[in-house]
Amino acid sequence: MQKRTIRIFKFAAIAAVPITLFAFSTGPPIKRTGAPVDDGGRTCTACHTSFALNDGTGGSVAIIASPYQPGVKQTITVRVNHPTAIRFGFQLTARPTSDETKEAGTFAESDLVQVRCDPTGNAPCNGALEFAEHRQIATGAGQPGPRQFTIEWTPPATDVGPVVFYAAGNAANNSGSPSGDHIYNTKLIIPAATSIPRPAISDNGVLNGASFLTGCAPNGWLQIKGLNLNLNTRVWQESDFDGNKLPTQLDNTSVKISGKDAFVYYISPTQVNALAPAEDTVGPVSVQVTTNGVTSNIFSAQLQRLAPAFFLFKDNNIAATHSDNSILGAATLFPGASTPAKPGETITLYGSGFGPTNPGIPNGEIPTVSANLANTVTIRIGGVDVTPTFAGISARSAGLYQFNVRVPDSAADGDLPVVATLAGVSSPSGPTIRVQK
Ligand code: HEC
Repeated sequence: MQKRTIRIFKFAAIAAVPITLFAFSTGPPIKRTGAPVDDGGRTCTACHTSFALNDGTGGSVAIIASPYQPGVKQTITVRVNHPTAIRFGFQLTARPTSDETKEAGTFAESDLVQVRCDPTGNAPCNGALEFAEHRQIATGAGQPGPRQFTIEWTPPATDVGPVVFYAAGNAANNSGSPSGDHIYNTKLIIPAATSIPRPAISDNGVLNGASFLTGCAPNGWLQIKGLNLNLNTRVWQESDFDGNKLPTQLDNTSVKISGKDAFVYYISPTQVNALAPAEDTVGPVSVQVTTNGVTSNIFSAQLQRLAPAFFLFKDNNIAATHSDNSILGAATLFPGASTPAKPGETITLYGSGFGPTNPGIPNGEIPTVSANLANTVTIRIGGVDVTPTFAGISARSAGLYQFNVRVPDSAADGDLPVVATLAGVSSPSGPTIRVQK
């Protein structure tokens, strides 16, 4: 009796609400992947308005795909995740980069994926733009992430040059409404496997990732300049990590230092940033980039035990923060966000290449505990030597050395030079912090 009452009530409620309201988790409207040529790049946030697009709360969407063999079917994966989400959806489209208003290849429907055509109807789309998206059953109501949607895609029959995929993902709260859901979007460009250009590292192309001068150290950042390093431009994101392990490739670009994996933070056509492995190898090393299975020239570099340098916000302004984590710098550096340091204040400076720590850093992992520098470091601020209250790597900060120091009481107003020295090796002179009484 009780059961029946509930069923009748539910039915009555559904009947009272316009049926279109219930049509969305069954598959969103087309042109919501963020592709700029589709109505200016709209995504799901047109209706799922609770949070900003790509909010920084730990979620992400990623597209995983290999170079395409013309006409040969392959699987594309769209991965959506958020720490608190328990229902997921997506939409994906493929375009030749030579003309993004055209479709590239065809998606196949499955039990979990449907394919919508522009302007209406479902696949086959006969050359019209295609949008692969979740079926309602695939949203997995109540199941935590990450959620991987796999889509069968048959590329164009001939090499049409690079193909770009656009995807939007919804990491939802299973409320049965558009509220409380996190929306992410991304894109991925893949080349035809038949025409992958060879990556090349430029002359003087390997530099310290903090100072942009020569000199790199184990567990220090490298900046690699070159050509054809990747078709995509991005930094690592949540989906690139395997638990605590740092990524050894982003979108099929990896870096080896004398045959050992470096950890890739940033890719673009002309620049890659990577963290050197944390170990004792020093001396001459070979640096090589591999993109989509094609290896670059070998670049010979010197790995030094210590190659200390401060990260820079821009020009010579050292990347530094106040104790409340706000940005340290002249008010004009990042208007509205940065403020100068005061004499006597404790600030944090960030750097790379400061060498071994105690305990040692686990190679290729996000450190779970903080570790002090093995060598004693002195930091000279405006000509006055200061001993940091902390010098080392904090927990959860891969490859990021940090120094908590007290700005000398005697510090004058202006841009004061800062130099760090340990075991007889100094950071380059030039970088400064702004002090204002
Ligand atoms: C035109 C408005 C609109 C757009 C655009 C839209 N949605 Fe929705 N979506 C809704 C509504 C309304 C609901 C709630 C009703 C339902 O579940 O069908 C919903 C619900 C959902 C749910 C279930 C949410 C939950 O917490 O239970 C998912 C998943 C979803 N949408 C995915 C997407 C994705 C992915 C996109 C973008 C590619 C998208 N939606 C774009 C209106 C929209």
